[in-house]
Amino acid sequence: MSESVADTLMRATMMLGAAGIEGPERDARVLLAHVMEIDQASLMARMNDALPQSVLYGMDRVVAVRSLHQPVSHITGKRGFWNHEFLVNSDVLDPRPDTETLVAAALEQPFDNVLDLGTGSGAIIISLLDERPQAMGVATDISAKALDTARRNAGRIGVADRVKFTEANWFDGLSGQFDLIVSNPPYIAESEMASLAPEVRDWEPHLALTPGKDGLEAYRRIADGLKAALAPNGRAFFEIGYRQAVEVSEIFTNAGFTQLKVLPDLSGHDRVIALIAD
Ligand SMILES: C[S@@+](CC[C@H](N)C(=O)[O-])C[C@H]1O[C@@H](n2cnc3c(N)ncnc32)[C@H](O)[C@@H]1O
Repeated sequence: MSESVADTLMRATMMLGAAGIEGPERDARVLLAHVMEIDQASLMARMNDALPQSVLYGMDRVVAVRSLHQPVSHITGKRGFWNHEFLVNSDVLDPRPDTETLVAAALEQPFDNVLDLGTGSGAIIISLLDERPQAMGVATDISAKALDTARRNAGRIGVADRVKFTEANWFDGLSGQFDLIVSNPPYIAESEMASLAPEVRDWEPHLALTPGKDGLEAYRRIADGLKAALAPNGRAFFEIGYRQAVEVSEIFTNAGFTQLKVLPDLSGHDRVIALIAD
């Protein structure tokens, strides 16, 4: 028996809701558009169309995996960030809207060479280089698999010839100075991991989420190497957890940085530490 787009959306919404998925209607729409390989506006214009069996089977399959809390982005393979869609998978953190606060703040500064520590999908540095066609960059990650995804994103978005991807443990093995350094390091405390949403806890790489213990270890390691890597008058921007402003500011102050600011995200939460080399 054939089903219309509207029937299929209703059935998928009920199944996703019963599985405890938040926003089941929105997810049903995104997933059906993905299976039909059309955008959501076209989907809405085809509500009464009868769907072929192949689409119904495809939809059953993706609704089943979404019901296991696999993130929508892992099913569709992409996530929108700043001006582009980035390829994402279980090797990289899904780039988050909060991180756009860091990109916006960094873009208010002039820069010719940028270093992104813990680049993941490459979302930050690729967005920055895309906006500054004369700038060059270096992006590091300790995960070779994450770097593979970042390289593919750089190629798709057209900045591959201006960014070098390097496997590194924070600053280890890096040389040279940068007039802009950015990072969204893992910052969730070990004790908070169990309370994360299953989409995050069970599907995103733990290396990208937590450095262990109190969640501040990555900032300590970055603060240790920052003085040597930041050019005179250079700027650095670090994403933080919204309750970490005091502790992270103290880490960078103790490392000898005196010109520090905490910037809020769009919800008004402390989200970014911005500093200038003394
Ligand atoms: C929170 S994710 C951020 C990813 C991406 N920059 C973003 O904002 O979407 C942190 C990244 O840091 C990387 N990472 C974790 N430990 C690291 C280390 N010791 N050295 C370099 N990168 C590390 C992880 O693999 C992950 O890609």
